[in-house]
Amino acid sequence: MAPAKRAVDVLVRARLLTGGAWSQSRHYSGRKLVSQEEQLVSHRPLYNDQDRNMSSKSAPVESGLRCSLFESYMRHQVRRFAVSTKSSGNASAVKSSRFDKLKEPDVKFFKSAVGEKGVIMDKDELAVANIDWMHKYQGHSQILLRPQTTRQVSEILRYCNSRNLAVVPQGGNTGLVGGGVPVHDEVIMNLGALNKIISFDEVSGILVCESGCILENLDNYIGNKGFTMPLDLGAKGSCQIGGNVSTNAGGLRLLRYGSLHGNVLGLEVVLADGTVVDMLGTLIKDNTGYDMKQLFIGGEGTLGVVTKVSILVPAKLGSVNTAFLACEDYESCQNVLKEAKMQLGEILSAFEFIDRAALDMALTHLSGTRDPLPQSWKNFYLLIETTGSDEAHDKEKLHRFLESTMEKGFVADGVVAQGSTQADSFWQIREGISEAIGKAGAVYKYDFSLPPKYFYKIVEDLRGRLGSAAVVLGYGHLGDGNVHLNVSAPEYDNELLEKIEPYVFEWVAKHKGSVSAEHGIGFMKPHALHYSKSTEAIMLMEKFKSLLDPKGILNPYKVLPNASKSTPNPNAAAARTLEAAEVF
Ligand code: FAD
Ligand code: MLT
Ligand code: ZN
Repeated sequence: MAPAKRAVDVLVRARLLTGGAWSQSRHYSGRKLVSQEEQLVSHRPLYNDQDRNMSSKSAPVESGLRCSLFESYMRHQVRRFAVSTKSSGNASAVKSSRFDKLKEPDVKFFKSAVGEKGVIMDKDELAVANIDWMHKYQGHSQILLRPQTTRQVSEILRYCNSRNLAVVPQGGNTGLVGGGVPVHDEVIMNLGALNKIISFDEVSGILVCESGCILENLDNYIGNKGFTMPLDLGAKGSCQIGGNVSTNAGGLRLLRYGSLHGNVLGLEVVLADGTVVDMLGTLIKDNTGYDMKQLFIGGEGTLGVVTKVSILVPAKLGSVNTAFLACEDYESCQNVLKEAKMQLGEILSAFEFIDRAALDMALTHLSGTRDPLPQSWKNFYLLIETTGSDEAHDKEKLHRFLESTMEKGFVADGVVAQGSTQADSFWQIREGISEAIGKAGAVYKYDFSLPPKYFYKIVEDLRGRLGSAAVVLGYGHLGDGNVHLNVSAPEYDNELLEKIEPYVFEWVAKHKGSVSAEHGIGFMKPHALHYSKSTEAIMLMEKFKSLLDPKGILNPYKVLPNASKSTPNPNAAAARTLEAAEVF
């Protein structure tokens, strides 16, 4: 079909699907993810009591409901432990002899510091906190602490530092590199009870809040005042702003609003020895010496515990349009990106990529999803969103963009969402891919940064290398050059892993990419850090670590290669059994 004719057909289809009128769409909410995400939401109230200061529209959760949701979640969890074969465990990590074991007087101290309610030793609750979202990394901590104030965080850390007790800071536990769960028996410090909004300035758009506030709650709170959070991700119903800062989370809006290194204006941080460092600036411009807060943005809980965050948030604009497009080949996707930057410019708010394998995975495993373009079976799909303030102008721009990209043959088919329900259904597919892969079996998950021309080549090369041994999927934030390369297999297998690693890391290094675009290093990748950081840079990182945490109690075995020397590849499969809690 000639490009011009195809363009008209697609526009006609787009018009038909939009009922002849361009309509507004709304972003898909992370809440709608089913299964694992629901489980997280169901246990969330235990860690994150509704903030009295929040004027969010969401109805408060009744305590009876909290209990029943939690109980059913736990029943499900316990079953999973019993039958799970999805293990890629920590068995090879040797516990450092520099850390002491939890003893009775420690528990006594913690109770005096945070009260009985802030000290959790219940097996079922610990089981949830000990295992990560993917059910891939599991520790066996015997204690979970829930401080409610910065002072309590400080007291806990001062004590743990003096006692040589290792500590894992934990937010919403949605991290994907095993950073937020213990490797051994580290004390878990969950920040969910630090969940107050401190201030919001409607003129400057500066929000100051405690680090345990859930991202979606913050978005609802400022949404009521005409603003929106500068980051959005599938886990927003569970992840905490402190976790987002500590992982320097990217997500779906980075293309528009930039990274947290730019949006975070200030932090309050507690160091390993209990020192509270006030860097909670609320100024957009501040050049008074070294910008120390930057070290903690993406610090993954290894340098300090984030207790307060000051963040610049943009206005929430009313005109949102969402399009789901199909392309014949990857080169066309690159061309569409180039055109989108030129033609949509300031209104472009998301540019997401989904390959056929990822789309099929979502359609197979997520209930309620359906192919937005059933007549066009293609290998490449794009989800594009525009956000602006002038509906007529934005629609006209999007219309011209679609027309020209179709005329040029870059877009083969497409549909523009008619209203929020349809837009949500597009986002459900994109945001639900990680959950869908989890349902399919074992997943080897990578989040690489690569120049656009190599973004998809790694998926093709790995697919060729693995053959029929596994399903290789590619999706991600094409607008930011961040590809999510995922390998799905029925179960974890060392032979398969050896075919994937170090091949993929070497591939990324050779093509001048990064081994982590947004998920971080955590427990999964310290052995791969050198592919993206020079020896000198790693040495400097180690110096900062020993300056801020000389005893190394904060999140040990994570990020730095020396911290996990005994774990050559933490992704190696190992038969996992739920370890009985050690008696002290
Ligand atoms: P956790 O998982 O609890 O912890 C993550 C790390 O931060 C750990 O190292 C932990 O020790 C540390 N930490 C947590 N809180 C603190 C604190 N207050 N002080 C110091 N250290 C702390 N990530 C992206 O970047 N982009 C995405 O698009 C994205 N989408 C996702 C979609 C799904 C469905 C899921 C499950 C995850 C996704 N993630 C994504 C990964 C994850 O949600 C983010 O990394 C998120 O920022 C983690 O926040 P959290 O509160 O859950 O932190
Ligand atoms: C995403 O972009 O969907 C997230 O980073 C999660 C993932 O990579 O699976
Ligand atoms: Zn992502």
